[in-house]
Amino acid sequence: MNETAANHLVLFMPSGKRGRFPKGTPVLEAARELGVYVESVCGGRATCGRCQVVVQEGKFAKHGIESRADHISPKGPKEERYERVRGLPEDRRLSCSATIEGDLVIDVPQDTIINAQVVRKDADTRVIERDPAVRMCYVEVEEPDMEKPLGDLDRLIAALERDWGLNGLTADCWLLPQVQSILRKGEWKVTAAIYRDRPEAAPRLIALYPGLKNEAYGIACDIGSTTIAMHLSSLLSGRTLASSGTSNPQIRFGEDLMSRVSYVMMNPDGREAMTKAVRQAVNDLVDKVCKSGGIERADILDSVFVGNPIMHHLFLGIDPTELGGAPFALAVSGAVCLPSSDIGIDLNPGARTYMLPCIAGHVGADAAAVTLSEGPHRQEEMMLIVDVGTNAEIVLGNWSRCVAASSPTGPAFEGAEISCGQRAAPGAIERVRIDPETLEPRYRVIGIEEWSDQDGFSKIAEKLGVSGVCGSGIIEVVAEMYLAGIISEDGVINGALAERSPRIVAEGRTFSYVLKETVPRLTITQNDIRAIQLAKAALYAGIKLLMDKQGIDTVDRISLAGAFGSFIDPMYAMVLGLVPDCDLEKVKAVGNAAGAGARMALLNRNHRREIEETVRRIEKIETALEPKFQEHFVSAMALPNKHDAFPNLAGVVTLPERSADRPERDIEGGEGPRRRGGRRGRR
Ligand code: FES
Repeated sequence: MNETAANHLVLFMPSGKRGRFPKGTPVLEAARELGVYVESVCGGRATCGRCQVVVQEGKFAKHGIESRADHISPKGPKEERYERVRGLPEDRRLSCSATIEGDLVIDVPQDTIINAQVVRKDADTRVIERDPAVRMCYVEVEEPDMEKPLGDLDRLIAALERDWGLNGLTADCWLLPQVQSILRKGEWKVTAAIYRDRPEAAPRLIALYPGLKNEAYGIACDIGSTTIAMHLSSLLSGRTLASSGTSNPQIRFGEDLMSRVSYVMMNPDGREAMTKAVRQAVNDLVDKVCKSGGIERADILDSVFVGNPIMHHLFLGIDPTELGGAPFALAVSGAVCLPSSDIGIDLNPGARTYMLPCIAGHVGADAAAVTLSEGPHRQEEMMLIVDVGTNAEIVLGNWSRCVAASSPTGPAFEGAEISCGQRAAPGAIERVRIDPETLEPRYRVIGIEEWSDQDGFSKIAEKLGVSGVCGSGIIEVVAEMYLAGIISEDGVINGALAERSPRIVAEGRTFSYVLKETVPRLTITQNDIRAIQLAKAALYAGIKLLMDKQGIDTVDRISLAGAFGSFIDPMYAMVLGLVPDCDLEKVKAVGNAAGAGARMALLNRNHRREIEETVRRIEKIETALEPKFQEHFVSAMALPNKHDAFPNLAGVVTLPERSADRPERDIEGGEGPRRRGGRRGRR
């Protein structure tokens, strides 16, 4: 008989894994054999409901499969009992009970709705295929017997080995004094939490619960120098139950990263104080997300943290002094995996913490998480990722090669160093438009729906107070000043316009633009524009160095990460020349991509291996050591750039004439031949 005909073809989605199985094989077993992750806590007893799948009906010509409802066995008594007691959505089946009766396309839902709680929208809603490092395994343990003097823990381990194939299992020390009481409380039925960061590693018993424990949680946390963001997710269903954020209390030791390093250098207890502060803030956030998710902190069994190198070091209790100067040596660059209690994070006593690897001394685990989330290494297109902060982290590449660098942009983009700058908070101007004829501005303020020239604005503004301009507002006002002809491509405010508009005022030997006349008066000074030019030139020069390394003139895609990236309008970022020219449709703000990357590593341990491997391959460029940095920096001081053309941008906005007759120079040089795009003519 034809062997193939006797077996049925089963395709699992979304993984796309497929294989042939004899009639009568439980669907869960088939999934296991193919390495498709399907959750199971009860070990196939049809009591946990975690193993739900959906049969896709229809003809799938591409795969040569006709999948029908009668190609899976009808519900048996165990499944019917589960349906009666716990309820089962109409299209769902328990894969531990259902068997293969014909060719099938099986969908493994990534949003299993068992025990569904509040779903938060704050975390991005992408579906992450699950394969967490922690698994919940229900077992029934033999009762003690005078004839067989095997210890309770030993019989538990034997049961886990028998039912779950967990060979070489060891237990956390903290559990030893508790095993006996938990086993008796559960009447010899318990659920073991098993930690295995990689499939080939020895399994470790990290927590034990009496009876069936049908849930386990994890947190993903991005420790930024300004804010800390945390997501609480179910490790079993992948759902995000709660998200919360807080400001980093280390701010009181120093606004930016370098001032925090200086604080450590100047104060003998500085490192300890900052470590304590950030861990306390993380513990407080855990409280918050547990409360809003309606769970106990002891239910959290795994955690993933990301942060820039200095945040990473301080969180781990490592002195970051070496990161304050060349050669910017990291104490540890690889991924770190340890018990959460070792670093004072109060979760379940057996919970583990995983920190993503750092890319370089200035490009941290946060940039690694953004890379994991955006996936330049998974695609053909040349993608530029920019995470703008006081230190911009830049990654450029595709599947064949990725390069990374950081640029010292300083705090100008965050409103510091700008005379009327402030953090993005209610009362800050975030959007600006300037009429090129009258030079009159109109603006939008955080906390007010209307623009400043619309009805109703003044009344709310009076109450709220318009106090300054935040980062996105600064980008827009400078870009609009350029588009309106108030500043030249070299960034100089044209004093001659003072005759035409009362908005242009002399201040000493330079001029300023009055954005808001009423108290507090907000002006954009020549120094403000210089500060923005310096910051954006540093960023662009860093990007250009990476483009040189890749031998390209254009990028295919740009992802702007971080809080700042979420609020800036890509068009204005391009008008200023923060980023190179690109089809605006392909420039996107990706929000807290570092948090999304951390969630990916939390919910699927394969993503941990993926980013570890990718970071090993990423080539690190130290901008300070590159001779061309200065040359690129000088060109990038101009708006948008002294030499680089912006044809995509010119297609959507009328850029002022540049000093047209400047002879073209080849400023690029670069290493190796240009592969993509080629140099384009000037606009
Ligand atoms: Fe628990 Fe199927 S594995 S119900």
